Amino acid sequence: KSKEKVQWVCSNCGFSAGQWWGVCRSCNVSGTMKEAKFSSDADSVISGFSVLEDGVGSWLPQQEGELRPLRLAEVNKGLDHHHWRIPLSGPFGDEVSRVLGGGLVPGSLTLIGGDPGVGKSTLLLQIASIIAEGHHDGEASPVVYVSGEESVEQIGNRADRLRIQSDIYLYSSNDVEDILKKVQHLSPGALIVDSIQTVYLKGIMGSPGGIMQVKECTSALLRFAKKTSIPVLLIGHVTKSGDIAGPRVLEHIVDVVLYMEGEKYSSHRMLRAVKNRFGSTDELGVFGMSHSGLQAISNASEMFLSEQHLDSEILAGLAVAVIMDGSRTFLIEIQALCLSSSTGSRQVNGIQLNRADMIISVLIKQAGLRLREHAVFLNVVSGLTLAETAGDLAIAAAICSSCLEIPIPNDIAFIGEIGLGGELRMVHRMDKRVYTVAKLGFRMCIVPKVAEKALGSEGLEKMKVVGCRNLKEVINTVF
Ligand code: TYD
Ligand code: MG
Repeated sequence: KSKEKVQWVCSNCGFSAGQWWGVCRSCNVSGTMKEAKFSSDADSVISGFSVLEDGVGSWLPQQEGELRPLRLAEVNKGLDHHHWRIPLSGPFGDEVSRVLGGGLVPGSLTLIGGDPGVGKSTLLLQIASIIAEGHHDGEASPVVYVSGEESVEQIGNRADRLRIQSDIYLYSSNDVEDILKKVQHLSPGALIVDSIQTVYLKGIMGSPGGIMQVKECTSALLRFAKKTSIPVLLIGHVTKSGDIAGPRVLEHIVDVVLYMEGEKYSSHRMLRAVKNRFGSTDELGVFGMSHSGLQAISNASEMFLSEQHLDSEILAGLAVAVIMDGSRTFLIEIQALCLSSSTGSRQVNGIQLNRADMIISVLIKQAGLRLREHAVFLNVVSGLTLAETAGDLAIAAAICSSCLEIPIPNDIAFIGEIGLGGELRMVHRMDKRVYTVAKLGFRMCIVPKVAEKALGSEGLEKMKVVGCRNLKEVINTVF
């Protein structure tokens, strides 16, 4: 009796079709269409979640009357604009709220992604505590923290370490249906699910973490959030390719996607919105991870400045570049060392040799630097590899600084590509890079002249953006 239906599902974007395609018709990636079988009852789940709706879904608030188009005024009638969002302050200052676009929106589904161990569970437990303490209008409501990864004792231990004593319900479960049923009657101020890769929906094919499970569980949570107006926060682990749970499809379903980033040996963490239906995606929150959890960092400029860099004595040959990795912005230090030598050898680390050669040649020809009689060593601090031409200008500045033996003040950053004529060229996402530099407390940012005009002034009040046409102008400005 159990009829089996075969579908082909793209493991990259979740597109499904009744037949196999060598190249996915939705995302154009080849070889991603995988066969998926649905039993007849599971099929009903796929098309419209009837299991949730009719079976256990009866606890969901029922829609009153007939659905019809509503007037804007009708929709906005009961809305108090000042208290629309839930602010998340406490130890976070306004960092989390700002990244969210002004606070957490009731009924929204937010996905927080990040590498394992970066501090997602810590962040969300702290968020749970802030909401539960009702910093907004003293209106406290409990928060439910559900973990499919850890036992309630483990979460309890973490809360103890973080000295959290708020009204939080802890629950350890992997079954989305079970979670939503148990959470509903508590009418919490928020629901937190840690993580999307560990939960499943009965009746859906595949194991937790698989494309279908991840997609359907997320959709179920979204429907729950919308129907109950309870904000849902979802943790997602980032896979090697940099996507949450592999498929991009997850990012399309949810309202807000935040990425938490941090370097291995640094206590700093960044929170960035990569998608936000309720605000801008150019916001960056900066935190420090301490023994008592995450805390907002007001003066973030120290973040990437090495200890030596912060000391009063600034070394020559150091320059700061601004690079992007996917949608993420990083600031990195470039080191150069120029030594008189007859051989004129070049040693580079973290930079492509031919790019370095080109920049050195341009400095010789267009800026008159006597680098032919120098051995040049180049290094990218922290072991990163610079793959972008946006770092050209910082490389050139570091070489100039070492060659001229004049240190560059540690609050100047450089962004720009260098052409063979020594001219500075625009690079993509200039606005995002410059904004990050400003946010991190820099005093000056050197950019190509063309970029200067294109940049607005919002968020850049405290930093001077200096546009230069070519390397000569850069040298005159900095040295
Ligand atoms: P965690 O939130 O478990 O990371 P994720 O959920 O993203 O995998 O935190 C991971 C690290 O944070 C862990 O190595 C210990 C550290 N940590 C602190 O430094 N201070 C703290 O107060 C807590 C709770 C964790
Ligand atoms: Mg965790």
